[in-house]
Amino acid sequence: MNDHLPAAVIDVGTGYTKMGFAGSVLPSYIVPSSIAKYYPQRQTNIFNGLEDLDFYIGKEAYSHSLRYSVSSPMKHGQIENWDDIEHFWEHCIFRYLRCEPEDHHFLLTEPPLNTPENREFTAEIMFESFNVPGLYIGVQAVLALAASFVSKKTSGQKDQPRLTGTVIDSGAGVTHVIPVADGYVIGSCIKHIPIAGKDITSFIQKLLREHERIPPKYALESAKYCKESYCYVCPDLAKEFGKYEKDPQTWIKTYEGVIHKTNRKFTFEMGYERFLAPEIFFNPQLFSSDFVTPLPTLVDQVIQNSPIDVRRHLYNNIVLSGGSTLYKNFDKRLKRDLKRRVNSRLKRSEMLSGGRIKPKPIDVNVISHNMQKYAVWFGGSMMASTSEFYQVCHTKEQYDEIGPSIARHNPVLGGITM
Ligand SMILES: Nc1ncnc2c1ncn2[C@@H]1O[C@H](COP(=O)(O)OP(=O)(O)OP(=O)(O)O)[C@@H](O)[C@H]1O
Ligand SMILES: [Mg+2]
Repeated sequence: MNDHLPAAVIDVGTGYTKMGFAGSVLPSYIVPSSIAKYYPQRQTNIFNGLEDLDFYIGKEAYSHSLRYSVSSPMKHGQIENWDDIEHFWEHCIFRYLRCEPEDHHFLLTEPPLNTPENREFTAEIMFESFNVPGLYIGVQAVLALAASFVSKKTSGQKDQPRLTGTVIDSGAGVTHVIPVADGYVIGSCIKHIPIAGKDITSFIQKLLREHERIPPKYALESAKYCKESYCYVCPDLAKEFGKYEKDPQTWIKTYEGVIHKTNRKFTFEMGYERFLAPEIFFNPQLFSSDFVTPLPTLVDQVIQNSPIDVRRHLYNNIVLSGGSTLYKNFDKRLKRDLKRRVNSRLKRSEMLSGGRIKPKPIDVNVISHNMQKYAVWFGGSMMASTSEFYQVCHTKEQYDEIGPSIARHNPVLGGITM
């Protein structure tokens, strides 16, 4: 093994930031990716030069929302505000991880197709502001794929080449479908859909507004709670509506909340929303008229665009990652819909050949696993605990000698090219 202190692993998502030290199974801290900054001009025009130090992140940011302005440095998985992200990392390091950044290598994560410029900015902040000795920026989906190889609930793949699979990473701000063949991300085939956790929460809010009176201040929080606790994916919309009509008592859930200031209770019922909300992955037109490709169709397109020799393996190992893949039966529905598309294509080609060609059936396998929720972080934690990690990290010496351009490309780690 190596004699380094454990590397710090930070996965800043659009919704939550997961952070901790390499080698652990779970992140030590999970905080909302929010920052609250003090704006003196709200009260007076006098600046005292300390404004830069006056900020909060995570849950604390929300508790200061009256006098501070709260925002997120991230949008749709990408860093939006570089000043804010620097402040945000500062608190992650000093307030949460409580470590000296000079003493630890760092593994940060990035969305697929991140620009080389973004990687350079990240390196600049990490090496110049925090003086870290080593930095690795891992692609989220690939870390998630690595995580799934260690933690699997469902298996059953035979002759699966190492690190080949299709990753579906759906968090708060974006859903990506990424094919990885033998550790190589097939960048040209990656697709994303602009539907993720935040959209599902706002869809629930919209549906509830039509028939429930919820105090506006609590609408978002309670919709999010209900989404995470009660929503599930159904096999057939019409049948599901029928179930609720026949036996509403069994299916409708009641949410009970409290208005903190007055201690007054409020309740509302969550009915069809339970299955209609996650349905937008499978029938996006319920939510938006701009984007109408269902997730299973998108996955099929991604795999069909990939090189022909890896397609079977990509169908065979579809891995889920991120909070928005946790709905009950999400894996089953995705598998069923995708299988239907694949089988009907095989049937069509058999018909076109007049029955002379009998295509070999394709095994569609959607993998859910124990580490799904924090798969990206867990994958990073595993990767950063190997001795190879220290050999492939960008180092401070390289940075001082060559400059931020060293971070334009990711070195190979664990057989993976990110
Ligand atoms: N049990 C659950 N069921 C459904 N959704 C959930 C559940 N738990 C968490 N979520 C949702 O998952 C989202 C957060 O997931 P995750 O932490 O993977 O996203 P992120 O990394 O912050 O965002 P992104 O990867 O899009 O940048 C939130 O929208 C949250 O409401
Ligand atoms: Mg994420």
